[in-house]
Amino acid sequence: MAKSIAIDGPAGAGKSTIAKMVAKELGFIYVDTGAMYRAMALYMINNGIKAEESDKISATCQTADITIKYEDGVQVVYLNGENVNGLIRTEAVGNMASASSVNGDVRKKLVELQQKLAETTDVVMDGRDIGTVVLPGADLKVFLTASSRVRAKRRYKELTEKGVACDIETIEKDIIDRDYRDSHRENSPLKQAEDAILVDSSYMTIEEVAGKIIELYRAK
Ligand code: DC
Repeated sequence: MAKSIAIDGPAGAGKSTIAKMVAKELGFIYVDTGAMYRAMALYMINNGIKAEESDKISATCQTADITIKYEDGVQVVYLNGENVNGLIRTEAVGNMASASSVNGDVRKKLVELQQKLAETTDVVMDGRDIGTVVLPGADLKVFLTASSRVRAKRRYKELTEKGVACDIETIEKDIIDRDYRDSHRENSPLKQAEDAILVDSSYMTIEEVAGKIIELYRAK
């Protein structure tokens, strides 16, 4: 049976960077489920659908064909045959993804795709509901978090390095609001699975966190 590690947690905790390192070390495939929700959001935007039009989102998601492939070890997301990796990291797509990912029909479709992938391949999968809904039988479940202040500082550093003017108080407020939305939605809220191990990355380096997860997996 294929092996799996589930990494859930709020935005900015370092999930994707760490999941990628863990996957590389163990020879597993890294599955970024957020990218699938982003591709679906892009499809909604391309179809002129607004975040509050939940009936239209339910109907339209049925015609979205989202697949992922690995090219040189990198996950590439295809939306109806088109590589959309370069189009899904914008603020507009992120905001639409946050809204459309609450839709039950969107979630059903993407969860099925994620489960199918993990049936045949060893995966490190990150998201919000991997340990609770997508892979309840995962070999290891980690709930990765960091304080809102630390996450805001990381984001501030990232943005200022890119030359984007920003303010740390506003960033922290956005993070707190998003955490609240993600953990209070009706469908698959962000929540630590009962058997998940809590890892707080506030005062750890990325390498320390990845090392800890690998150690936890090997100890299983
Ligand atoms: O991790 P990210 O920012 O790329 O995720 C984009 C959006 O998708 C985010 O608003 C949360 C949502 N998401 C989700 O609901 N479930 C997942 N398993 C992964 C992401």
